[in-house]
Amino acid sequence: MTELYNIALEILGNGKGILAADESTATMTKRLDSVNVQSTSENRLLFRETLFKASAMKDCIGGVILYDETIKQISSEKNTIPKLISSMGSHPGIKVDTGAKVLAGSSDEKITEGLDGLRERLKEYYKLGAKFTKWRGVYNITKDFPSKLSICSNAHALARYSAMVQECNMVPIVEPELLMDGDHTAKDCYQKTSEVIKKCFEELILHKVDLKGIILKPNMILPGNKSKEKISNEEVAKLTLDCLKNSVPSEVPGIAFLSGGQSEIEATENLNLINKINNTNFIMSFSYGRALQQSALKFWSKNIQDTEGTQKVFNHRAKMNTLAAQGKWSKEIEN
Ligand code: 13P
Repeated sequence: MTELYNIALEILGNGKGILAADESTATMTKRLDSVNVQSTSENRLLFRETLFKASAMKDCIGGVILYDETIKQISSEKNTIPKLISSMGSHPGIKVDTGAKVLAGSSDEKITEGLDGLRERLKEYYKLGAKFTKWRGVYNITKDFPSKLSICSNAHALARYSAMVQECNMVPIVEPELLMDGDHTAKDCYQKTSEVIKKCFEELILHKVDLKGIILKPNMILPGNKSKEKISNEEVAKLTLDCLKNSVPSEVPGIAFLSGGQSEIEATENLNLINKINNTNFIMSFSYGRALQQSALKFWSKNIQDTEGTQKVFNHRAKMNTLAAQGKWSKEIEN
């Protein structure tokens, strides 16, 4: 199992983080529609390949999460995408859940599916070059949610998934995402995130998952996006660190935050502040989707052949987050 621990450290060590490029075709189509680019498999590949060949891949991106379509695509140099990512010194990963569906028994909540046939799919992905995987459980915050049913059933699925992934020699990313949507306070987010994460670890331990060979991908502690409450970034960092300190077992090597709808700068600034006060042994880094790709996508959409220009935008964002993962980012460097 030290092998998995080492992979986790290679992905998140030295300020590196993860590029979450695993948008499903439906989500990627929404992203491309928003910048008026047609969502064809060629265009999805072209944008992603442009990022995967950027120089920041070498110093800032320790792992890339792919979607099923992308892991099977071939680059313009006739390389497989996992080989291209490995050649840049980064690890290829794969999203293996099949999405969040209506939870029977609590129809306003979701349960993530994909356990049936998972072992066979994992073996295939491993052969294709994947070194790590992702499964996302998703939870709403309201007065009544997440319900005990959603907390227990998603934790169970995350644990069964993780045990199988480790059996197949890959590092599972455990992602319980409490959504930012709603009018809840930061305190609500703190309490519910803590409850969800604690339950996840209870199940991971029950399923004999080696905690040294996983990466946790949590949300930061924020007030809901419709909340009247406004708190400072310093407060976000303090609450986030405190929540994780109290709910994550010390064996876990690394925590890689999702951006969850924060702006690019917010996600960088909050990560930086967390690292400035990080007095734990956890590596605190990023596994951003939107917060790493938004500006690059916008730039690219204006001229999809402008590889260099697009890479420049992406390199900057990746570099800023690598500095933030070491507590070395500042507004002056940003500008
Ligand atoms: P965002 O950073 O855009 O939230 O995406 C991360 C992710 O992988 C969500 O599952």
